[in-house]
Amino acid sequence: MLVRGTVAAPGDKSITHRLLLLAGLANGRSRIRNPLTSLDTRSTARVLRQLGVEITPLRPGRELMVMARGRHFRAPRQTLHCGNSGTTARLLLGLLAGHSFRASLTGDNSLRGRPMRRVTEPLGRMGARFEPEGQEPPDRLPLAIRGGALHSLEWQLPVSSAQIKSCILLAGMAGGIPVALREPAGRSRDHTERLLRALGFPVVEGADGWIRFRPTGRIEPMNLEVPGDISSAAFLVGAALLATGGGLAITGVGLNPTRTGFLRVLERMGARITVNPAGERFGEPVGDLVVRPGPLIGTTIGPEEIPSLIDEIPMLAVLASRAVGTTTFHEVGELRVKESDRLALLAGNLGAVGASARAEHNTLTVAGRRTPPAGRVRTAGDHRLAMAFSVLGIVEGAQVEVDDPDCAEVSFPGFAPLLRSVLR
Ligand code: S3P
Repeated sequence: MLVRGTVAAPGDKSITHRLLLLAGLANGRSRIRNPLTSLDTRSTARVLRQLGVEITPLRPGRELMVMARGRHFRAPRQTLHCGNSGTTARLLLGLLAGHSFRASLTGDNSLRGRPMRRVTEPLGRMGARFEPEGQEPPDRLPLAIRGGALHSLEWQLPVSSAQIKSCILLAGMAGGIPVALREPAGRSRDHTERLLRALGFPVVEGADGWIRFRPTGRIEPMNLEVPGDISSAAFLVGAALLATGGGLAITGVGLNPTRTGFLRVLERMGARITVNPAGERFGEPVGDLVVRPGPLIGTTIGPEEIPSLIDEIPMLAVLASRAVGTTTFHEVGELRVKESDRLALLAGNLGAVGASARAEHNTLTVAGRRTPPAGRVRTAGDHRLAMAFSVLGIVEGAQVEVDDPDCAEVSFPGFAPLLRSVLR
C-alpha cells in the first residue's frame, strides 16, 4: 500500500489531562484549544464536573471552557469513575489529597487491576488517609481518600513515572506545600513541570536530579493550545514506514524530548523521518514530521531510554517484527502494569501473527521476519495494542484481525478512518 497526505494528530492526551486538572483549580475561566476529546480525557472532565468544576462538552474540533473557583473542589456526591484512565486516577488523587472531604474512586476492570500504592504511599506520608484502611495504604481501586492539611514531602520514586511525579506535584499545589522528588535513571515526561513553570510557578531541577516545587499564590486562568499527541502520531509514523511507497506529513505534534525517544530509536533503525521544529507552545516544543517508507534494521533499546518511549513500545515492537535482525527492549517491566499486561500480550500477539517474539523477565526480544503477518490479535481492550496491530495489517499480503479495534477511542478518536484516508 502507498501512503500519502498531510494529517494532524489529535491533541496530546497527557497535556489535555493536565490542563483540565490545573484549570479546575484556577481562579476563573480558562480556554483550552485543540483538546483531546477521547474516552480518557472525558473521564477527567467527568470527575472534575462531579467536584464542582464547570466544563463545556468535549466534542471533536471544539475548544473547551473550564470555569473554576480556585483551589476549592466541592465534595462529590457519588463515586468518581475514572474509566480506563490511570492518569485521571493517579493525578486526581494528588489534587484530592489537598481537600478535607472524603472521595471514592473507581475505574473499569483494567484500571481496578493497576497498582496505586505508588501514589497512595507518598500521599499517605503527606497526611492523606485512605480506605480500606490497613498497615499499608491501598494498592488498588476502588478506594476512598480523605485529604486535608498536608506536610511537605521529599520522595525518591521507585520507578520513573510521570504519573507518580505529577501526583506529588499536584498534591503540593492543592495543599499549598513544598514538595521535592527524584526519579531513578531515565526521565519520564515532564509536562507537569513545564506547565507549572508556564503558569508562573517555580519548579526547579537541580544537578543532583531533585525536582523542587514550592507553590506560591493562585493559579490564573489559562488560554492555551494543546500540541498534537506524538504518541498517537507514532501509529501514523509506523504506517508510513511499513507502506510500499509515498510519504506522509504529520503537522503540529509535540516534540518534548521526554516523549521523542521512539524517533531517536527509529533513526538508529534506519527510518527516513524528517523533523521540522516549529517553535514552542507554553514551553512545549512543537513541529512537523515527514515520514517515508523504507527498510528497518534491528537495534537495542537500553533501560535509560524506556521512559521516553514507554507508550510507543507496542508500535516499535511491531515495526521490529518487520525489520532485518533482532531488536531487544531492556527493562520494560512497567509494561506489565499498563492498560493490559502489555509485555505478555505484545509477545503473545506477535507470535499469534507468525512473528518471533519473547518476553523474559523484563526484556522483550523481537526477531524480524519477511513473511506476511496473519492471525488474530487479542487486545484485552488495550488501545495501543489495537492500533499497533491495525498498522501491521497494512503490510502487503497481511491478514491480521484485531479483536477490538474500537478501543482505540480511549486515546485516538477516529483512528481507523484517518489511517484509511492516508493509504492507497
Ligand atoms: C502518562 C504517563 C505514563 C504513560 C501514560 C501517560 C502521563 O505512565 O504510560 O500513558 O500522562 O503522565 P507512567 O507514569 O505510569 O509511566
